[in-house]
Amino acid sequence: MSHLFDVYPIYDIEPVKALGSYLWDKNGTKYTDLYGGHAVISVGHSHPYYIEMLSKQMNAISFYSNSVRISLQEELAEKLGELSGYPDYKLFLCNSGAEANENALKLASFHTGRTKVIAFKNGFHGRTAGAVAVTDNPAIVAPINYNHHVTFLPYNDVEAAENGIDDEVCAVIVEGVQGVGGIHVATDEFLQALRRKCDETGAVLILDSVQCGYGRTGKFFSHQFSGIHPDLMTMAKGMGNGFPIGGVLISPKFKASYGLLGTTFGGNHLACAAGVAVRDIMKNENLIDNAARMGEYLMEGIRRIGGYKELRGRGLMIGIEYNFPVKDLRNRLLFDHKLFTGVAGANTLRLLPSLALGQEEADAFLEALEKESSDLKETVNPSLRLRSDGATRR
Ligand SMILES: Cc1ncc(COP(=O)(O)O)c(C=O)c1O
Repeated sequence: MSHLFDVYPIYDIEPVKALGSYLWDKNGTKYTDLYGGHAVISVGHSHPYYIEMLSKQMNAISFYSNSVRISLQEELAEKLGELSGYPDYKLFLCNSGAEANENALKLASFHTGRTKVIAFKNGFHGRTAGAVAVTDNPAIVAPINYNHHVTFLPYNDVEAAENGIDDEVCAVIVEGVQGVGGIHVATDEFLQALRRKCDETGAVLILDSVQCGYGRTGKFFSHQFSGIHPDLMTMAKGMGNGFPIGGVLISPKFKASYGLLGTTFGGNHLACAAGVAVRDIMKNENLIDNAARMGEYLMEGIRRIGGYKELRGRGLMIGIEYNFPVKDLRNRLLFDHKLFTGVAGANTLRLLPSLALGQEEADAFLEALEKESSDLKETVNPSLRLRSDGATRR
């Protein structure tokens, strides 16, 4: 009998070793990782520079509180500002994506003195009180989390945004690419309309970049394709390559004061060492360009294979939606081909590999997908059978 509170449906596989885009279980079976443990593995598993930086830090000092100077925080803030293209924004460090969003919402409310929040259908922002209240999934919102401050508008609907954002709104929180919601990319017009309306009304624009940020889409932040500048950007996942760390990048228009925000663990020595190592590897190995290039390579391969309803995404954030539940396909990829992938909803296969993914690993996935797609074409309900160009024949 397990003593764990049973909230995660798990595969009976236990990885005990990992390197680059590969994992090995305790029986020595090797797996290719196209999912990065939910977009967390950004620079690849067990990168030697990352291990060296963390080991050195562990041997020096692992933790002291935010009551002393921690120059690694300064180093991370400066290097991150430079790599992200936001050198004049300030960094607040915390421990997770939900916590980053929680702090961004608080900052927006302190700044405007307002309470109303605009969020979007199908959006996901985390599971803490404020973050879950702006998440569009009643199944994970407890009665205590409901408040009357949040309005959910349709995603990518410019008109709804123009009508829905008024001068009572404190914050607009949006993902540049919806991840958990199924890999839906925000259009340029939509993000530009949000920026315009926030400027008009004084609302704060928060880009939740926890999943789509940190180079995953082929730019540091996905909203940089649309040429807008948010007021606040939240980050986590890829930031520490597995070491828990989150952060908020904050426009210079926000004024800091002692005690306004705070956390015990945020910005600790080990987390900052992980953050600096990730940033250094990303920059030195041009991983953001690799994400763009390998993303295009995977997309092209998936298009060639066909059989899907819709292919969405940018860089190494890819969703393949089928006309049937993908549980079986995902299981076959995992158990027959030893490939880790993810899902979003019932019908979408989700790929979030390390930004260091190589062509060999991408080819292994494409080969397996091709084989399984043609098998599935034979076995799915004939009324949903697919044409090779990806359209449905009903
Ligand atoms: C867009 C987005 N925001 C926030 C979160 C929450 O992050 P965490 O699980 O680190 O709290 C997630 C996690 O999946 C996410 O995808």
